[in-house]
Amino acid sequence: MTPKPPRPSRRSAVEPFIVMDVMRAAIDREHAGERVIHMEVGQPGAPAPQAVVAAAHAALADGRIGYTEALGLRRLRSRIVLYYADEHDLEIPIERIAVTTGSSAGFNLVFLAAFDAGDRIAVTTPGYPAYRNLMSALGLEVVEIEVNAETRYALTPAMLQQAHGEKPLKGVLIASPANPSGTVMAPEALAALMEAAEALGILFISDEIYHRLVYGGTAATALQFSDNAIVVNSFSKYYCMTGWRVGWAVLPETLVRPVERIAQNLYISAPDISQKAAMAAFDATDELESVKAGYAANRRLLLDRLPAIGFEEFLPVDGAFYVYAAVNRFSNDSVDFCRQMLAEAGVATTPGPDFDRARGHGFVRFSFAGTEPDMAEGMERLTAWLR
Ligand SMILES: Cc1ncc(COP(=O)(O)O)c(C=O)c1O
Repeated sequence: MTPKPPRPSRRSAVEPFIVMDVMRAAIDREHAGERVIHMEVGQPGAPAPQAVVAAAHAALADGRIGYTEALGLRRLRSRIVLYYADEHDLEIPIERIAVTTGSSAGFNLVFLAAFDAGDRIAVTTPGYPAYRNLMSALGLEVVEIEVNAETRYALTPAMLQQAHGEKPLKGVLIASPANPSGTVMAPEALAALMEAAEALGILFISDEIYHRLVYGGTAATALQFSDNAIVVNSFSKYYCMTGWRVGWAVLPETLVRPVERIAQNLYISAPDISQKAAMAAFDATDELESVKAGYAANRRLLLDRLPAIGFEEFLPVDGAFYVYAAVNRFSNDSVDFCRQMLAEAGVATTPGPDFDRARGHGFVRFSFAGTEPDMAEGMERLTAWLR
């Protein structure tokens, strides 16, 4: 009897993370000898700061790369405490900090520790797709709340109250700066939303992965307003450490031990070498600010050039490194439009349905996290292609 091949579980039937599929298609082209400009993935074009690389070399030279405590190296956790003191004038107890394998694992841990299967969690749309895909795989019910220009693409207390009134929510997750909209919530707006969530007994999760990437002003942290909120952050974006897979979460006291237990069993610890290297990232501010100045120049370039070639409407771009632009001048199917752009112009971008299944076919996301020469070449190629 021929053995039957294994069947995937029902819960594995989540949607793909389209940007990763685009990246694979772009890499296929590169393997075939083509040069592709990467404007699809939110990945800094700059390498990790020199001090980070030096710290990793030192760790390698020592050679003892081991497991760490599940919540992370104490030295790194103390450095994160110092970050909140310096940046936000907050005293966060070290016990509330968990170092994670990128914020992606942070979300996994938090969802598992705070929610049960069937719980309803609100997210905004457009929004980062992995939230909803991961929640679905974990058996959570994702409640997508459409945000629009009226509120600069931010969630408001009224929207949250309405969704909760329809059927109670257990949690709400927002990001500021947001992906793909670039929206940064004003401190008062964040405080009001958190107050509304707390009054309704809804757990507040704040994705702060794009903190320090705001063009004018700073982003408020949810920790300023409540000790009951969960904050998820990462070394991937501002700190240019995507591939090191290291991030952190700040947890309410009641969730620390549950997160620790799940982390112990899920992956034991975040990579030791990455944790040792990440410690140096907080002291590389000069280097990182000059990378950020490059993003600011790229942002200016895109905001000048995109309207001139027909992308006239886009979302705020206050922070992060994305322009989420309408493609209605060219197509009503952004998946097909992006495929053509990659094939004919050699520019990889992400189609909107990754971020918004209902309205995303009319949008494309450009990431301007690449180097200034690459972004300039991307704009030249698009101009020539659309002419
Ligand atoms: C809003 C948002 N959150 C989380 C992540 C995950 O990043 P990482 O797992 O590298 O920390 C990303 C990556 O693009 C993101 O855009």
